[in-house]
Amino acid sequence: MAHNVIVGQSGGPTAVINASLAGVFSKARELGADRIYGMINGIEGLLNGKYCDLEEKITSKEDLSVLCQTPSSFLGSCRFKLPEPEAGNEIYDKLFNILAELEIEVFVYIGGNDSMDTIKKLSKYAGLIGSTIKFMGAPKTIDNDLAVTDHTPGFGSAAKYIATVIKEIIRDSYVYNLKSVTVVEIMGRNAGWLTGASVLAKGTDCPGPDLIYLPEVPFDMDNFVAKVKKLTEEKGNVVVAVSEGVTLADGRNICEIDGEIEGLDAFGHKILSGAASFLAKYLAKNLGVKTRAIELNTPQRAASHIASLTDVQEAFMTGAFAVQGGFSGKTGEMAIICRNEGEYKSYADSFDINKIANEVKQVPIEWICEDGTYVTDEFVSYVLPLIQGEPQLIYKNGLPAHLSL
Ligand code: F6P
Repeated sequence: MAHNVIVGQSGGPTAVINASLAGVFSKARELGADRIYGMINGIEGLLNGKYCDLEEKITSKEDLSVLCQTPSSFLGSCRFKLPEPEAGNEIYDKLFNILAELEIEVFVYIGGNDSMDTIKKLSKYAGLIGSTIKFMGAPKTIDNDLAVTDHTPGFGSAAKYIATVIKEIIRDSYVYNLKSVTVVEIMGRNAGWLTGASVLAKGTDCPGPDLIYLPEVPFDMDNFVAKVKKLTEEKGNVVVAVSEGVTLADGRNICEIDGEIEGLDAFGHKILSGAASFLAKYLAKNLGVKTRAIELNTPQRAASHIASLTDVQEAFMTGAFAVQGGFSGKTGEMAIICRNEGEYKSYADSFDINKIANEVKQVPIEWICEDGTYVTDEFVSYVLPLIQGEPQLIYKNGLPAHLSL
């Protein structure tokens, strides 16, 4: 029997998801895998027979280094929900036939909550039909909302980008001597980890954002307007960080107030966008001050030019750990990051996927200030180590080089 590995990437990408792919690839090679396949566009692509031989795509040490600094999913992604596993199901039959043809021993899926649902279902189905294929998850998500793991690869780099950009936005906002409000919208549907990370802009050279709103606390429009009004009167220029997932007490997202949202994705998540734009217009109308809306949008998950070295290394580590776990006989688990007590140090382990898939880890309420408009020092202590270090980038024609499929 061949020792073959197949790896896929799924869900929204990050700046370091390909470092996890590089970790899977390198470790699989080191452990003597015969073939290392990549699913193209995740499990959805695989179902349509789309995969590649990764050794034909990553052909040198430099390719591997460039892969680690290439943002977005090298193999392409999907948001594809598998049905509940039951013996004889057509989709599972098809998938397991493809995996049998490719003589797969270890299957690694790099993704967030929804992708871990895929690993959970595939490992359960393998159990139902007596398949020996090992199914392992490798974590990724800028949202940092996966349970059990201390944090997720992708979060540290997005946090570093956000804090950097917020610092620059605050500088720019002070340039004119007039009252102004800048509202910055940050990703994170159900958890405010990333929006909270805007606090890291604060230091001896920057006052940091004035207000930070997370989805963990219901948003009160009147209170918001009153707070911003007071701040503009006191200091003139105000910068607000707001999560795309912030909701009113009645459950509506900010971006749903003045219209319909764009719809739902395959997992039933609302497609969110427009909170900053709505709030900026609302403030301009109600306070008569100059306002700007900035939606950080995809750059926050693609900005590998300012990735955190810690994040890149941990992404690699979890990818490697997942494939190693599979080869050592583990299945239905996800690689996790554990943090040592004291000075920051991390190491990998793995954990039962059933305790992780479909769970959402939010910011602990005690790390959010009482009035819901800022985060605490504990939050800062948690995030600060994750943005440390800068990778040495390889440049081509003055720009960071990327590896393409
Ligand atoms: O994967 C997480 C995430 O980046 C969220 O923060 C964001 O709301 C969502 O994905 C966006 O999804 P899509 O890539 O489908 O636009």
